[in-house]
Amino acid sequence: MKVLGIESSCDETAAAVVEDGHTIISNVIATQIPFHQIYNGVVPELASRKHAEWILPVVRNALEEAHLTLNDIDAVAATSRPGLMGSLLVGLTFGKTLAWTLNKPFIAVNHMLGHMYAAHLANDIQYPYLGLLVSGGHSIICRVNNFDDIEVLGTTIDDAVGEAFDKVAKFYGLGYPGGVIIDNLAKKGCADAAHFPVPTLKGDDHRYDVSYSGLKTAVINQLDQFWNPDYPKTNENIAAAFQETAVKILLSRLFRAVEDTGLTTVVAGGGVAANSRLRSMLAEHSEINCIFPPLKLCTDNGAMIAGVGYHYLKRGETSPITTTASARIPAFRRGLARNRQ
Ligand code: KG4
Ligand code: ZN
Repeated sequence: MKVLGIESSCDETAAAVVEDGHTIISNVIATQIPFHQIYNGVVPELASRKHAEWILPVVRNALEEAHLTLNDIDAVAATSRPGLMGSLLVGLTFGKTLAWTLNKPFIAVNHMLGHMYAAHLANDIQYPYLGLLVSGGHSIICRVNNFDDIEVLGTTIDDAVGEAFDKVAKFYGLGYPGGVIIDNLAKKGCADAAHFPVPTLKGDDHRYDVSYSGLKTAVINQLDQFWNPDYPKTNENIAAAFQETAVKILLSRLFRAVEDTGLTTVVAGGGVAANSRLRSMLAEHSEINCIFPPLKLCTDNGAMIAGVGYHYLKRGETSPITTTASARIPAFRRGLARNRQ
């Protein structure tokens, strides 16, 4: 079964064809980063205009790359939430219209389920496992029972981890998007240049929760307080010290979840899963089987949406043509949640 997956929730216009939920036949990603770079962040109005301009050529390229025509597609899947409203509406409406015109099934997909599924496109992974969903908008530690059955154990109480990377980069004028820039700078810096505190959130309710506003404030406003005077205050050293703590915060809660649940397979997803320090720190723990998506599938892409779409389709579940977009993910809360529109 060949599913066309469309993703337009933020600043990538993307489309892919995936066969049977695992074989990527084509995967086209048109990034808008150069257009948002001068503003140091995503400008929603600009993003939706670019999606409207690019969606058709991107879908056409995905079909051409796959050497397929629209008639060869068995179903269309598109991201319906969460994300920027104007951006979501472009891909979702395009996908629905295409499915309606072709008289093929349509499946609305939750973007975060897509990120969680990305590693499955390159690996054979058994459920259940612990999920680490880390992106510009989310920092979630979860128990994953099935592709659409996610039990959130912990999340951020303030900023998302990717957001912290982006804000620190913006403050120091390093550029946009901050994550990959800090990751690259950190390779030339020393993590010992500063020791920022890892927040300890009290109470059982916060056992697996993380917080990033303290680290962000420390790096931006209180750098001198935590700086080791033996090191020069270079961007490389700031990046390395910040990144080290940002990763430690995530891992301190993740290791707790591994210990409490006895689940030793950890699957990462989302833009921050591309982080080289997160990958190397986890690799040092041989007791954990950590699975990362290939770099191209960490950030937003259509293949992850097509992959999730296939599993709904296999179950005989499709979405009504009246499905609308939603900026938030109300079903994604603590406890067992079926994350479906
Ligand atoms: O998943 P994604 O493309 O979009 C969202 O759903 O948010 O993630 C984007 C986020 C941005 O905050 C970006 O700075 C971060 O992922 N990111 C990284 C790296 N690559 C992207 N953060 C840390 N290290 C990286 N290598
Ligand atoms: Zn994303």
